[in-house]
Amino acid sequence: MKVSEVAKTRRSIRAFLDKPVPLDVLREVLETAARAPSGGNLQPWRLYAMTGEPLARFREKMRERLATNPSPDPLEYHVYPQHLWEPHRTWRYRVGEQMYGLVGIPREDKVGRLRWFSHNYDFFGAPAAVFCYIDKRMGPPQWSDLGMYLQTVMLLLREHGLDSCPQECWSMYNALVRSFTDAPAELMLFCGMAIGYADPDAAVNTLETERAPLDEFTTFMGF
Ligand SMILES: Cc1cc2nc3c(=O)[nH]c(=O)nc-3n(C[C@H](O)[C@H](O)[C@H](O)COP(=O)(O)O)c2cc1C
Repeated sequence: MKVSEVAKTRRSIRAFLDKPVPLDVLREVLETAARAPSGGNLQPWRLYAMTGEPLARFREKMRERLATNPSPDPLEYHVYPQHLWEPHRTWRYRVGEQMYGLVGIPREDKVGRLRWFSHNYDFFGAPAAVFCYIDKRMGPPQWSDLGMYLQTVMLLLREHGLDSCPQECWSMYNALVRSFTDAPAELMLFCGMAIGYADPDAAVNTLETERAPLDEFTTFMGF
């Protein structure tokens, strides 16, 4: 697979087959992805990977939490800026409309949308999951390093026929996740990632998100 092909075909996948992710493949991907650049080579990513029995136990814990006390844990960071502005506001709105359109849940059906959103907290049925942490003392440059690492993971997964969905939604239950991962207090949860083989029959997996045209976000000078 050419890099451009992988970059163009990677998508966030939100329904997975019940087919295990081999440990050696995941190890290779997470290790190779660490070739991602980071400012000063700090390599600020800190990961917890789960499958099988621990993941089943975690799922159960999360299910119980949502059923008994769905209010989020105190937030460690804000997923979006407050009062999102254009054009970002519209992009966010559109991806929501496209996704809920595919799964047939209209805007008015707030309960239905919430119920569907809660699949996030089952990793969309994925057989493997990763939580990505960063030291709280790190700043915006190191957060951007995490992004480079995670995108490299997602691209490398494609080479092995695997798919993924990065998930910031886990930041809402950061304390619950910590009670399971036992991550040290100095670490802060950035996101989770669902990993597995995409369910080819799931309508939601046909979602092709849009992108702004190049000249809207790039100023070329001197070319
Ligand atoms: C850091 C990060 C966190 C995300 N969190 C979630 C999430 O919690 N739930 C979800 O369904 N999608 C999540 N996404 C997926 C985005 O919605 C998706 O990347 C975007 O709509 C573009 O679609 P694509 O990934 O299919 O190209 C996240 C993406 C990133 C990069």
